Amino acid sequence: MSVSDAGNRALKTRGLGVQRGGKTIIAGVDLTLSGGLVTAVVGPNGAGKSTLLAALAGALPCAGEIVLEGVSTASGKSPATWRVGYMPQAQTLRTRLTVLEVLLLGRREQLGWRVSDMDLAMAREMVAHFRLEAISDQPMTRLSGGQQQMVLLAQRLMREPDLLILDEPTSALDLHHQLAVLDRIRAYARRTGAVVVAAIHDLGLATRNCDRVALVHGGTVRSFGEPEEVLTREMVGDVYRVELDTYRNSLGRSVNIPVSAVLEPVQTENKSA
Ligand SMILES: Nc1ncnc2c1ncn2[C@@H]1O[C@H](COP(=O)(O)OP(=O)(O)OP(=O)(O)O)[C@@H](O)[C@H]1O
Ligand SMILES: [Mg+2]
Repeated sequence: MSVSDAGNRALKTRGLGVQRGGKTIIAGVDLTLSGGLVTAVVGPNGAGKSTLLAALAGALPCAGEIVLEGVSTASGKSPATWRVGYMPQAQTLRTRLTVLEVLLLGRREQLGWRVSDMDLAMAREMVAHFRLEAISDQPMTRLSGGQQQMVLLAQRLMREPDLLILDEPTSALDLHHQLAVLDRIRAYARRTGAVVVAAIHDLGLATRNCDRVALVHGGTVRSFGEPEEVLTREMVGDVYRVELDTYRNSLGRSVNIPVSAVLEPVQTENKSA
């Protein structure tokens, strides 16, 4: 697919809702996620980020509508055949398959009964792209948590998804790899026009390295837009229950740094009543 047909695809939800264990976890989510952009899904623990992403991936039943639209006819696909790459939160693989084999499995729909030279070349390219050369012949069981996370992300990219859904893809990564991985994800979105959505806890990373932010709180999207519009000092303070200091960085932008948690008073029962 060329960059020229990248602009017009989108994922839209209307009144999206999810129930789990008889409880409403997500309700009334109306979102439009444009192709070619990376949307960060942020919000406190238990807000509903993973539930929302699983619903978008089709991994959980949901109410309302999810519409995938705008795949160019030039790519020969209808919206019904969008390829989805979904990486759940804290996924690990306990397998003796090597890194290269796990990458190739990312192309299982295309592989048939044999591995083509093209598939192998693509897997080797992905190894180089993610700097996995030193571990490409290692079994997955011998990798660190961060190395596993990078391999599993690279595996999803091998699938060349139209919709890439990543649940905390940088949670096990060091500072360098967090930035490098988000750069690669963003480059993938730009190059292919794919819709990319990733849950991220680090608000600095979401602000600097993502194009849009969806702030989830209490099972709904409280705010959506460009990072600096959404992640204001007031909104972050309120939703995360933290005090923030605001600094100006070397680029002249104001940056909010959380400095303390706002603790609610402990509720005590009035026994004298
Ligand atoms: N299988 C389940 N049955 C019932 N409730 C669930 C189930 N899974 C999650 N929940 C509840 O749904 C809510 C949202 O959970 P979810 O995992 O989507 O949060 P999250 O925003 O991804 O949090 P975190 O930042 O901790 O990953 C939580 O209150 C959680 O207890
Ligand atoms: Mg989660």
